[in-house]
Amino acid sequence: MSVPEQSAGTVTRYLLSCLDGEPGDLYVAASHLIKNGGKRLRPYMVMKSCQLLGGSTEDAMPAAAAVEMIHNFSLVHDDIMDNDEIRHGVPTTHNKFGVPLAILAGDILFSKAYQLIADSDYTGMVTAQLTSRLAGGCVEICEGQQMDIVMARDARIPTQQEYIEMISKKTAALFDVSCAVGAVCAGAGAEEISQMSSFGRNLGIVFQITDDLIGVMGDPKVTKKPVGNDLREGKKSLPILVALETASQDKRSAILECFGRSDVPRPKLDSAVEMIRDLGINDTVLSLADGYAKTARSALESHTGAAKDDLLFLLDFVMERKL
Ligand code: IPE
Ligand code: IPE
Ligand code: MG
Ligand code: MG
Repeated sequence: MSVPEQSAGTVTRYLLSCLDGEPGDLYVAASHLIKNGGKRLRPYMVMKSCQLLGGSTEDAMPAAAAVEMIHNFSLVHDDIMDNDEIRHGVPTTHNKFGVPLAILAGDILFSKAYQLIADSDYTGMVTAQLTSRLAGGCVEICEGQQMDIVMARDARIPTQQEYIEMISKKTAALFDVSCAVGAVCAGAGAEEISQMSSFGRNLGIVFQITDDLIGVMGDPKVTKKPVGNDLREGKKSLPILVALETASQDKRSAILECFGRSDVPRPKLDSAVEMIRDLGINDTVLSLADGYAKTARSALESHTGAAKDDLLFLLDFVMERKL
């Protein structure tokens, strides 16, 4: 799924128009992931949150594009950190252009996000609020990414609570920011902004849980990403935590043998993934995600209308997604 084609297309064109310049190879690298896919979920959330509170999609566009640029900046750098070779079925940015250019591609996406907001027609007050929200989101992403790296490096298996704190920062923070900035663009007050922020945060937690589930249980033909990468990198994702709790001693040892071993042969990795799939962890993981989905839904309780329906539809999609 990508969000409704029309709005995704408008955002994509807008983004690409901002990513044109010299040296050409820098801008080609910066637009590589955007040109080759992406669901545009975050800009959709910015726009729908803005509409929900009485604003228009035009009001939301610069903020929506800025959020998507920050998201893509984080993906480019994340793929370097995670040693991932494929995203959207194409080589990751560093795989295609080399690490130095990929670092710069990420940096330019990050910088352009702020330039876009500063150069738009928002009032000084709105610009200040947007900048503060975006910067706060970036700070959390950095903190969450480092927590993720440390958890992967340490032999200790974290608690589910520690995993939730990590994903809340590395992923859910930007969903929170997306909804909050949408509300800011609509001129909403503090109470409404905080409701949208809660909706986004909880949806973001659901999103990362289902993303991690897909990382183990997904069909690579659909996801265009190989399964088992998290296991290979020693990532303590929720499905892996639940699998380790559920597995017999023998299976647990077999899974742990592949854990964090970048040199593990593919067949051995595939059989560990198979073992996790056979443990029937799907329902347990989804029921944990459902708790956050309920909190997200309750954050929108006092609202009605088409934009609310669209946001709730997105929440259901994220719960049920295979991609
Ligand atoms: C991927 O996010 C990164 C995570 C936070 C898990 P998306 O799955 O939304 O990425 P694109 O934009 O659709 O590629
Ligand atoms: C991505 O997390 C989070 C950010 C980009 C900040 P992951 O590393 O779990 O996501 P994928 O699997 O690479 O998309
Ligand atoms: Mg990654
Ligand atoms: Mg990562």
